Amino acid sequence: MSQKIVLLGANGQLGLTLTRHFKTLDHDLIALDRAALDISDETALRKKLGELAPDIIINAAAYTAVDQAETDDLDARAANAAGPKHLARWVKENNRWLLHISTDFVFSGRSHRPYTPDDQTDPLSIYGRTKLEGELHVRYLARDHSLVLRTSWVYSPYGHNFLKTMLRLMAEKESLNVVDDQIGTPTSTLGLARCVAAAVEKRPTGILHWTDAGLASWYDFAVAIQDEAITQGLLTRAIPINPIPTSAYPTPARRPSFSVLDKADTIAALGCHPQHWRRELVHVMQNLSR
Ligand SMILES: NC(=O)c1ccc[n+]([C@@H]2O[C@H](COP(=O)([O-])OP(=O)(O)OC[C@H]3O[C@@H](n4cnc5c(N)ncnc54)[C@H](OP(=O)(O)O)[C@@H]3O)[C@@H](O)[C@H]2O)c1
Repeated sequence: MSQKIVLLGANGQLGLTLTRHFKTLDHDLIALDRAALDISDETALRKKLGELAPDIIINAAAYTAVDQAETDDLDARAANAAGPKHLARWVKENNRWLLHISTDFVFSGRSHRPYTPDDQTDPLSIYGRTKLEGELHVRYLARDHSLVLRTSWVYSPYGHNFLKTMLRLMAEKESLNVVDDQIGTPTSTLGLARCVAAAVEKRPTGILHWTDAGLASWYDFAVAIQDEAITQGLLTRAIPINPIPTSAYPTPARRPSFSVLDKADTIAALGCHPQHWRRELVHVMQNLSR
C-alpha cells in the first residue's frame, strides 16, 4: 500500500524538486509550504499532522540564509532547532518516521579527509549551530524513528542558489572573483531527490550523508557553470573568473574550508550511487526554466 508522506518546506529548492520527483512515484505526497505549516509553531504542527496522519514526514524546511542568521539567531533557531524538535516528538509519540535534512556546515572544516556521519561536529556559524541543535533533538527524541540526511552546496533548477547567482552575474559583469580555498561538493537536488526516495523505501535510522560525487572549490564550480552555460547557449561570452582567497571576500558567517562528506554508509544502506557533480550540473542546467 502506498505510504502517506507529508513534505515540509515545499516551496524551497529541495521541496520543489521533491514535489515533482514524488509525482512520478507511487506515493501519496502532501506538500506543505511555510504558509500551510510553520514548523516552529508546535500547536499548529500538532493540529495539522493530527488531521493528515502521515506515515512519513520529510523535513526540507529550514532557515538557510547563512549570513543573515548571524544577526537573526532567533528565527534561525525557531526553524532549524525548534521545528525539528516538535517533529521528532510527534513521530516518536505516533510511531511514524521522519527524514530530516541537515548540512555539512555542522562540521568545522579542519579535516583533511571526507567527514563520516560519526565524525565530531563543531559548527563555525549560527546557521551550522542551529542545524546541529535540530539534528540533536531528532536523534535524542526520535532515535528509532528518524534519519538525519546531511548534504552540501545544494543547487537546483528552482529557487535561489549559487548556480542562478553565477549565471546572473556572468551575464551582467565584465569579470568575477570567486573563492578557491573552500572545498566541498556541489549537490544537485535532482540527485538528492533520488536518494530521499530510496530512503523513504528503506526507512533507515541514524545519520547518513548524501552529495554528488567528486569535490570542487567555489571557483571550480563557477568555471564549470560558465563553460556549460556557453555550451548550452545560456551565455554568449566568457568573462574572466579570478580565484581569490576567503580572506579577500569577508562574510558575516564563517564557513568550513573543507566539508566533503563521506557517502560510503549511504551507498551501502540505500544502494543509490552519486553521479559526478559535473554530470549533475549538465542535467540541472538542461532543466533550468528559460
Ligand atoms: N542550500 C544549501 O546549500 C544547503 C546545503 C546543505 C544543506 N541544506 C539543507 O537542505 C535543506 C533544504 O534547503 P534548500 O536549499 O531547499 O532551502 P530553501 O530553498 O531556502 O528552502 C527552505 C524552505 O523552508 C521554508 N521555511 C523556513 N522556515 C520555515 C518554517 N519555520 N516553517 C516552515 N517552512 C519554513 C522556507 O520558506 P520561505 O520560502 O517562506 O522562506 C523555504 O521555502 C535544508 O535543511 C538545508 O539546511 C541546504
